[in-house]
This record gives sequence, structure tokens and C-alpha cells, in this order.
Amino acid sequence: MTTNAEIYRIGAQDDIEAAARLSAANHARLVASRPFLRERGSGHYLPKLQWMTENGMLFGLRREGRLSAFLGAFRLEDFRNEGPGCFSPDWCHGSDGSPYAFSDYRSLYRHAARIWLDAGLPIHCVALHPSEPEAMEALSLTGFGRIVLDAAVPSAELADALPRRESPSGITLRRAGPEDARSLASMNGILAGHIGASPVFMPRTRGESESGWREWFDEPEAAAFIAEGDEGAVGYIKAQAPQFDVSDAVHGDDTLAINGMVVSPARRGAGIGRALLRMAGGHALSAGKALMSVDCETTNLEAYSFWTSFFKPVTWSYERRIALP
Ligand SMILES: CC(C)(COP(=O)(O)OP(=O)(O)OC[C@H]1O[C@@H](n2cnc3c(N)ncnc32)[C@H](O)[C@@H]1OP(=O)(O)O)[C@@H](O)C(=O)NCCC(=O)NCCS
Repeated sequence: MTTNAEIYRIGAQDDIEAAARLSAANHARLVASRPFLRERGSGHYLPKLQWMTENGMLFGLRREGRLSAFLGAFRLEDFRNEGPGCFSPDWCHGSDGSPYAFSDYRSLYRHAARIWLDAGLPIHCVALHPSEPEAMEALSLTGFGRIVLDAAVPSAELADALPRRESPSGITLRRAGPEDARSLASMNGILAGHIGASPVFMPRTRGESESGWREWFDEPEAAAFIAEGDEGAVGYIKAQAPQFDVSDAVHGDDTLAINGMVVSPARRGAGIGRALLRMAGGHALSAGKALMSVDCETTNLEAYSFWTSFFKPVTWSYERRIALP
């Protein structure tokens, strides 16, 4: 640790307010490189950080009496079907940008990691913005790797990138409804199999049931589009208002969050994915959703390549697993 620095557990209101200012500054750095994101003041972060002091843990690093950096996380009994872990959302860390940012994150994580492990939490995940190179380097050098990408694009920009064209040959596309629940559930099973297989290996994956899909259409702003060929349904895309697991940086009334897409294996690479995305993008524009977001496993080769062709990275989730003694 650099000299004159002290790590402690944050609980006092003054410190929570100082941490909220660091979160806001962190977000401002992201917006500087992603101007399509909403600006946020420290008031946005204050209730979140207050919640974290009550439901998780926040650690601060103080230098010369001022909060220089902080890191916090909360407990998840079953982190991504992988067991007990803790998660630090993108708003739950920050640094004052001092030359010590890299070593401050290293010191904060060393302090927190022991406490998290002693609490029975061997999986550690921290969501970082691309505008935080010091934190990314600090975690990369401490055993972390990227597992999830949250990305976004202005809907108008997506429309320009996907000009209107004929549907892929022999394919029709339309908006889906509850009457498509059976087809959607069946294709969702293909997606679950894909992320259960190498190299994603997500444990215990299973698609949503037919009745689950029927209910899904009642969710706020739920919209799904389906592609059909001679053999029936060959793909879908679904989107809704951003859910709790979507990066806070993209949350907002005018965001439509894509949270599922699949094309049947025999039909991949023929432009069906693009055609579905074009439909979802058109829907976003007509529904007044200026921003579209998506999240995907970085280990999912097809998905990563597909989404990064159109969306810009906003948040990377870094994960580390430690063997329990
Ligand atoms: C992602 C997916 C929906 C794309 O559908 P698609 O109909 O094949 O997409 P398109 O034909 O319009 O575009 C193909 C693009 O997908 C990506 N892609 C397809 N196969 C790929 C592969 N084997 N490796 C890497 N990228 C691949 C590429 O970006 C490719 O673009 P390119 O042709 O310019 O290289 C499809 O690959 C799929 O169903 N994957 C499994 C399920 C999944 O991962 N869903 C996303 C969950 S977030």
C-alpha cells in the first residue's frame, strides 16, 4: 500500500457521500467516451451506496484525511448458478484519479478478498467500465478475467448500421406474442444448450418453460420477434426494460435491453440474426427508446462477435474464483 493510506469499513454518512461523488466522477469518465449515455450526479449513487452499507460491505481507502478510493460488494447465494459469491456493481467502486489509483485498487481488493473469503464467498466479481484502466489492470494482475460484457448503441445508429434489406431467403420475420410461447421455449432450449457447452460451461442452464414465456409477455416493455422458415421457428430476439442484472450505466426510461437471442444452428451465418436485430432496433425507435443495450458472456464466441459488431462496450464484469481452504 502507498504511504499514509488507511483502509477501513465505510459506514458514516460523510464517507458514503464522498463515495457517491467518486462513483459520479467514475461515470462521468465513462460518458466522456460514450456520450450517448445519460449523465448522472452523485445523488443517483447515494441511495445505492447507502443500501450497500446495510446489505453488503464498502471499504474505503483514506489518504491525508480524504477518501481516495473505495470498493464494495454484496453477497449472492448463487452467483450465475456457480455458488456463493459477491458482486461489486459498476457503481460500487471509484478512485479520485490520483496517481495511486492502480495500487489503491490492489490494496482495497487485498483487504476485501480476505473478508469475503472468510464470509464463505469464493467467487468475486467486479463490474468495471472501459474508462477505468487502472482498476482493470489491478484486477487482471490479481487473478481476475472478463466474463460478461454489457454494451450499448443509440437506436438511430443501429438503424444506420443495419439498413433495410430483404429478409434472408425463405425467412419471414414478425413480432411474437404469447401464442408463440411453445416455439420460443423450444428455441430457448437451444440457447441454454449453447451456453451450457464449451467454452461457456454455464452450469445448470435450462430454457424458460412455455408457461414462463407466456407470462414474460406481461413484463414492462417486453417485445420479441420471431423468424420462421419452412420448418417453423428458426430464431428469435427478445428485449424489455433493463433488469437488475444489466449494468446501471445504461439504465433509464429510454433504454430497451436485449436479453435473449438465438438462431437455430442450421440457419446461422445467413443474416437471420441481423434481420432480427434490425426489427428489434426499428421497434426501439418507434417506441421512443433512444438507446439499446445487451449483455453477453465474453466466452460465447458467436454472441460476442455478433454484438460487438454493432454495440460499444460499456461495462466488463471481471471474475475471480478462489479455492476454499
Ligand atoms: C449470435 C447468433 C444469434 C447470430 O445469429 P446469425 O443468424 O448466425 O447471425 P448473422 O448471420 O446475421 O450474423 C453472423 C455473425 O454472427 C457472428 N458469428 C457467427 N458464427 C460465429 C462463429 N462461429 N464464431 C464467431 N462469430 C460468429 C459473427 O459476428 C457473424 O458476422 P460475420 O458473418 O460478419 O462474421 C447465433 O450465432 C446464435 O444463435 N448463437 C447461439 C446463441 C447465442 O449465443 N445467442 C446470443 C446470446 S447473448
